[in-house]
Amino acid sequence: MVTSAPDAPIADLYAHFIGGRRVSADGAPDLVRANPAHTDQVLGRLRSADADLVQQVVRNAAAAWPAWRNTPAPTRGRVLLEVARLMDKHREELAHLIALEEGKPLKDARGEVQRSLNITEFMSGEGRRFGGYTSASESATKFAFTTRQPLGVVAAITPWNFPLAIPAWKIAPALVAGNAVVLKPASATPASAVRLAELYLEAGLPEGVLNVLVARGGVAAEMLLDAPEVRAVTLTGSTSTGRHVAARCAARGVPVQAELGGKNAAIVLADADLDLATVGIVEGAFGSTGQRCTATSRVIVVDAVADRLLDRVVARTRALRVGDGTQEDTDVGPAVSSEQRDQVLRYLDVGRSEGAEQVYSGDVADLAHGHWLAPTVFDRVSPDMRIAREEIFGPVLSVIRVPDADAAFAAANAVEYGLAASVYTRDVQAIFRFVDRVDVGMANVNQPTLGGEVHLPFGGAKASAIGPHEQGREAIDFFTKVKTVYINHGG
Ligand code: UN1
Repeated sequence: MVTSAPDAPIADLYAHFIGGRRVSADGAPDLVRANPAHTDQVLGRLRSADADLVQQVVRNAAAAWPAWRNTPAPTRGRVLLEVARLMDKHREELAHLIALEEGKPLKDARGEVQRSLNITEFMSGEGRRFGGYTSASESATKFAFTTRQPLGVVAAITPWNFPLAIPAWKIAPALVAGNAVVLKPASATPASAVRLAELYLEAGLPEGVLNVLVARGGVAAEMLLDAPEVRAVTLTGSTSTGRHVAARCAARGVPVQAELGGKNAAIVLADADLDLATVGIVEGAFGSTGQRCTATSRVIVVDAVADRLLDRVVARTRALRVGDGTQEDTDVGPAVSSEQRDQVLRYLDVGRSEGAEQVYSGDVADLAHGHWLAPTVFDRVSPDMRIAREEIFGPVLSVIRVPDADAAFAAANAVEYGLAASVYTRDVQAIFRFVDRVDVGMANVNQPTLGGEVHLPFGGAKASAIGPHEQGREAIDFFTKVKTVYINHGG
């Protein structure tokens, strides 16, 4: 293991972060990654964590845990508040790092930094609110209350599409609740996660309480899941990965919180404000190159306004600029990797062969050396087509035409996923029917399927989630255990 001082210049973006420092593992790098917008430029090289390193890091985290557990919760919260302050100070640096390693446009990356700051700031307050409740007892000489205690070491497994925000929103509640964390970020985007861990160290988090292990493939992740010291696992990823992790953890009785895929619909009814709907749909479908679990991948529109809506959506999509995310005027960055781009291109073939009508596809022929994808809109998609049911995770929008609101709500539910949905209408009865019937974790009225506010729960229904939701006050529940206490103060 080779270590370097945390403030050493970064010759290479990639490192593990263990015991409070950047570390590179022994051996030839097996993880070499290029800039997704300039594939001739290497961003980092690293040797993946192997089984021994995973075991060592989990043990170190377990050794660092008791002191953090015994630190008063309000003091833990102050560390988070300082992290939020540091994120504010470094917001441009963080946004550029996200845009560089993930490829997303700077404006999206800045939003991601703000989101990371917001959750950390919100969770810092949970340090002062940490605790349980008192209750009446059946006996006059008993006092009853509940208290919350941290679990120990928790593992966080995060994807590449929000390289800073998803680690931030998993780590903040875990740490304020008094746990130690081993984070395994996606191997495509480890640098933002390591920078986040450095900010925690600078803010006063003791060494070893937060560690970042980078590894290609699943072996290190499986080691982490099986480590006896790991008492809970929080994951964001595909539904198949989430189910695999949940099954594996169930064998040890370890709880899992998994935020999984989506196939989110924006429903547009006859009385909708079509300009508002167009803005929300185009941002939802093509923002972050559609690489977002909450992306709008289906529009379900009633026949009466379908042509008018489609004209507007295509016109607005045509104006989007595809390019390098680190350039200020880019609207749509590259796919994160060639695998991801190829998956999206395969879905375009599937859509055409299923008989959907491709009404718009941009041109990226002029762009060199990047994993470019042009936004694509399919019309006349029927709910049974694969492009209407499967998560594509790219800039592809499927338009489904339906006769009325009830058919729209039924079509919205006709997928295995249930993360987010939107409706565009001014009809108050339709709004309440939508909220009641559409089987999703997050229902939006006259706003995009994306995002959410960090002080409210974030998560899905059906195949989009396993276990409790993230964010909001509820997030603390997953990272703590409740102890019920009875004190007999009588004879
Ligand atoms: C967002 O909608 O801004 O993996 C966040 C994802 C989600 C986060 C989406 N967990 O895309």
